[in-house]
Amino acid sequence: MVRMETRITSSPRVAASFIKEGRIVAFPTETVFGLGADALNARAVKSIFKAKGRPSDNPLIVHIGDYYQLSTVARRVPPTAEKLIGHFFPGPLTVIVPRHPDVPLEVTAGLDTVGVRFPAHPLAQLFLRECDTPVAAPSANRSGRPSPTSWHAVFEEMNGRIPCILKGGSSRVGLESTVVDCTRGRPVILREGAVTLEMIREVLPGVISARGVSDATSPARSPGTKYRHYAPVPKVVLVDGPDEVVGMRRVKIGFIGTASRGFRTKPDLLTACRGVRTYAQKLFRFFRACERSGVQVIYCQRVPARGLGRALMDRLQKAAGDPSTGS
Ligand code: TXA
Ligand code: MG
Repeated sequence: MVRMETRITSSPRVAASFIKEGRIVAFPTETVFGLGADALNARAVKSIFKAKGRPSDNPLIVHIGDYYQLSTVARRVPPTAEKLIGHFFPGPLTVIVPRHPDVPLEVTAGLDTVGVRFPAHPLAQLFLRECDTPVAAPSANRSGRPSPTSWHAVFEEMNGRIPCILKGGSSRVGLESTVVDCTRGRPVILREGAVTLEMIREVLPGVISARGVSDATSPARSPGTKYRHYAPVPKVVLVDGPDEVVGMRRVKIGFIGTASRGFRTKPDLLTACRGVRTYAQKLFRFFRACERSGVQVIYCQRVPARGLGRALMDRLQKAAGDPSTGS
């Protein structure tokens, strides 16, 4: 791959000008940073897969900056999707709907459905409106790596591989969006996120989570779930303790034991969070910090699997390589 100069800008207009030229741009959202291209330009979309080293059978989410763009992306909007959109757009939610014929098959990896998301992040919205076209974007990491939650993390991995990064603060949520398939009889949560099962149930009581569906009835409905995801270089081990942390109502992301190569406990790699929300926000950044310091094992505390804790446990289990999570 030919290296290129990576321009870093705070201007949504400058970033959008790259999209209009058919080039790709990393941009902030409230979940994680995305790597975007004009969703209606098949060639531009292909360069996303190249920059990420992503298998082309894994579909991309299309981002919109205004409701009117929905009809340029979706052939129709099923009633279940309409309800979700009414309650949770703009926000950390992706709805899977029937694909509009104008959306190239490169975006959806040949599927007749398309994921649509309207981010809540103010800079993302300015950028998307400037683009004036729907923007297809996966997370801005190299394939198989944790999603980036800061522009520094994007830069580390993508410098020289992409032409532009739109600079913004760290992602507020820190985990990727909730993905809900609205194209079949019953809405199914394909990926858990900050719009939780409980929140969706209030709007769509019949919703189910794909995690509860047996393999026989769900042949890789979200193609991405068959790939190994969110895995940092060090080994991730899930633990319940230590008890005193729980007693203080604080959740520790990890604590580094004395590793075999003589690493000693380093306080700066001991991230204690006040609750599940900050735990989710800091998780991927923590993984990257651990990689940089060369630790071999990351201990992550389990959280109760309710609310945002479901999404967090999903990412933790995937990082730990638990085969039952289908990664
Ligand atoms: O928060 C997010 O969703 C971020 C930001 C940038 O928006 N994007 C993101 O994209 O996480 P990505 O490509 O890393 O994950 C998209 C997930 C994959 O698991 C993919 O398989 C699934 O969504 N997906 C996309 N389109 C789909 C479709 N038509 N049917 C089923 N699953 C789909
Ligand atoms: Mg991703």
